[in-house]
Amino acid sequence: MKITIINGPNLNLLGTRETDIYGSQNFESYLDSIRSNFPKVRIEYFQSNIEGEIINFIHESKDCNGIILNAAAYTHTSIGIADAIKSIDCKVIEVHISNTYSREEFRQKSFLSPVVSGIIIGFGLDSYRLALESLITGG
Ligand code: DQA
Repeated sequence: MKITIINGPNLNLLGTRETDIYGSQNFESYLDSIRSNFPKVRIEYFQSNIEGEIINFIHESKDCNGIILNAAAYTHTSIGIADAIKSIDCKVIEVHISNTYSREEFRQKSFLSPVVSGIIIGFGLDSYRLALESLITGG
């Protein structure tokens, strides 16, 4: 089973960026822990600060068993990423570390939510594990 995690802009700075909101763990160490907790799953990881690169990677991920996507700020702006999700058959789960609905109003609009299979928001980095469990169990 192959699952792809895609992180959008500024998520390369997890661990040091706004730690009161996003926590102090960097994504690479979190990724190591979920890879070792799910040894049978091939977890591919891609991060980019560039919208077009994320779109290209979604196109290239069409053969995987599921995509866990935190498009970060592009969630609230990107029709291009929404269209890319619609263009592939692979199941996509939208995740967010913070509860975007308890934050600024502009974070309460997602162009992606209408086109994904499911949404997991506000459980810190554990949002990714919950999404992974859901893809594994086929929920
Ligand atoms: C985020 C929420 C977005 O609003 C924000 O722009 C991010 C991270 C989250 O995971 O909580 O960069 O997607």
